[in-house]
Amino acid sequence: MSTPQPQNIVLIGFMGVGKTTIGKLLAKKLGFHFTDTDAQIVTQAGCPIPEIFTKEGEEGFRQRETTVLNALTTKQHSIIATGGGIITREENIPILKKLGYVVWLTASENEIYDRVTANSDRPLMQTKDPRQTIRDLLTLRDPLYSSACHLCVDTTGFHSEDIAYGVRESALVYFSGLASPPAPES
Ligand code: S3P
Repeated sequence: MSTPQPQNIVLIGFMGVGKTTIGKLLAKKLGFHFTDTDAQIVTQAGCPIPEIFTKEGEEGFRQRETTVLNALTTKQHSIIATGGGIITREENIPILKKLGYVVWLTASENEIYDRVTANSDRPLMQTKDPRQTIRDLLTLRDPLYSSACHLCVDTTGFHSEDIAYGVRESALVYFSGLASPPAPES
């Protein structure tokens, strides 16, 4: 018999869409644990993300990200917020799906721009033309997010509380389906 899928919610999506904020609200609403792959990487590396990129390059960061993701497969009743580039490694996508209900959060290009240019903690955004960088990365990544998710939620113009409420409702329906017995044979 195959192992039942754990009841976790995995949040994926571009930088600045609110994965951490919404994830923490969801954890509170559901009484689940909250985990953030970026925070785990920083703890394990002992230095902030920009320093990891400087010392180890993006490839080093991605390797750490896959290691952290693989270590989450024992989680149950957790909200897992992920870094925006987690879907760029093909091997991560089946791991994300195995972890639980995968929700892709999106936002308008303008909202993303405002949020990611508000500080300098995102190495991939330190370019001459961040708006064009956002467009280029979205073009590359949107099909990957789409292939990895069970649900897509556009957060543009909504309060985080309302988004968390909607995701919670949808996840509970999904989880109840996991628990249902197999359909009788006809
Ligand atoms: C990245 C997103 C960041 C972080 C790193 C790389 C990306 O996380 O993992 O800077 O490639 O999109 P957030 O999505 O939480 O900003």
